[in-house]
Amino acid sequence: MSFTPGESVAMARAIVLARRGEGWVEPNPMVGAVVIADDGTTLGEGWHKRFGGDHAEVMALSAAGPAARGATLCVSLEPCRHVGKTPPCTDAIIAAGIRRVVVAAGDPSPHANGEGVAKLAAEGIAVEVGLREDEAVRLTSPFRMLVQHGRPWMIAKWAMSLDGKVATHAGESRWISSEASRKIVHALRGRVDGIMIGVNTAIADDPLLTARPPGPRTAVRIVLDSAARLPADGRLVATAREVPVLVMVARDAPPARVERLRDAGCEVFQCDGDERQERLSVALQELGRRRLTNVLVEGGMGLLGGLFDARKVDEVWSFITPKVIGGEDAFTPVGGRGVKEIAAAADIDVEETSFHGGDVLIRGLCRPSAPPEP
Ligand SMILES: NC(=O)c1ccc[n+]([C@@H]2O[C@H](COP(=O)([O-])OP(=O)(O)OC[C@H]3O[C@@H](n4cnc5c(N)ncnc54)[C@H](OP(=O)(O)O)[C@@H]3O)[C@@H](O)[C@H]2O)c1
Repeated sequence: MSFTPGESVAMARAIVLARRGEGWVEPNPMVGAVVIADDGTTLGEGWHKRFGGDHAEVMALSAAGPAARGATLCVSLEPCRHVGKTPPCTDAIIAAGIRRVVVAAGDPSPHANGEGVAKLAAEGIAVEVGLREDEAVRLTSPFRMLVQHGRPWMIAKWAMSLDGKVATHAGESRWISSEASRKIVHALRGRVDGIMIGVNTAIADDPLLTARPPGPRTAVRIVLDSAARLPADGRLVATAREVPVLVMVARDAPPARVERLRDAGCEVFQCDGDERQERLSVALQELGRRRLTNVLVEGGMGLLGGLFDARKVDEVWSFITPKVIGGEDAFTPVGGRGVKEIAAAADIDVEETSFHGGDVLIRGLCRPSAPPEP
């Protein structure tokens, strides 16, 4: 593999462009593309702007126009070779007379998966894969989770005091974090497909779980609630006809309560499984089947514990506020069973540490680790 400095710069730009699609393109991947001349001059650029719209390659090629003939295309993800909502990108590349294609990372979905690259190579186009691959893979990690594991990318978020409490011993949690931190959470809510909580948080906090102001997408609000205990007079149920609410219950949830939630406009999905953890797994697969790419989990301790125990948390956003709440009975962010040995703890690769109105945000990725402890 060898790449020119111009290609490296163009690919960095393609990745920046791709990110503009965040919240708009899912369940498609974010993709950016740049057409360059041999001396590295940019001839055209593009990115996938919204689900169903033109792909990045097509946009970059049309921006370059006739100058694309004989040029190099740098694209952050392998071009597709199938007819989906738009014609195959491979055909557009061939028709434009591109001489060389540099791809950052392969596309694991069945309509590409090496075939996009193979098709271009078969047409005599020089194709190289792997420039800025790690960045491109990270950029598309939620998409990859959905394609390869059939479940959404799970983002755990909590706000805690310096002594690690998410509520007082009396259950009060408003507001632990600063206004600036809460603004960030609203922006995050506005670009995910689902926002999930455990039923006790719904009962204790009566949250609305909407993005204010709204973002590019409206998340379905998901409550994990084995026995359909979600209060009918709460804000989630009251607004279920405006913003969808999905209550995921056990098969043996009391039918009268299930009906009451349905009558109020909630969707109720009955998960198979005798144990909560089994049902959690079923719930995530169901969300994947519905093609939810990113799900934000806003607590509480029980649900986050269940997710960490099952190793199903992919990304963590922890807001730490300089207050001490104390109290042996006060809630901490993550409950569940936890691990016995430190070596088995979820390791976070920190991607960001930032300050927001006095709070510290630590954001990172859960390192893929060993399977759950027996
Ligand atoms: N500061 C913050 O960031 C923050 C955020 C959220 C919550 N909180 C606080 O946390 C407290 C609530 O925490 P919590 O631990 O009691 O409640 P929780 O996690 O909201 O709810 C736990 C309940 O969810 C249900 N559940 C369904 N599937 C589950 C699974 N696989 N694993 C675990 N639970 C599952 C269970 O009830 P069923 O078996 O009946 O379904 C369980 O009892 C509140 O006081 C709230 O204010 C603080």
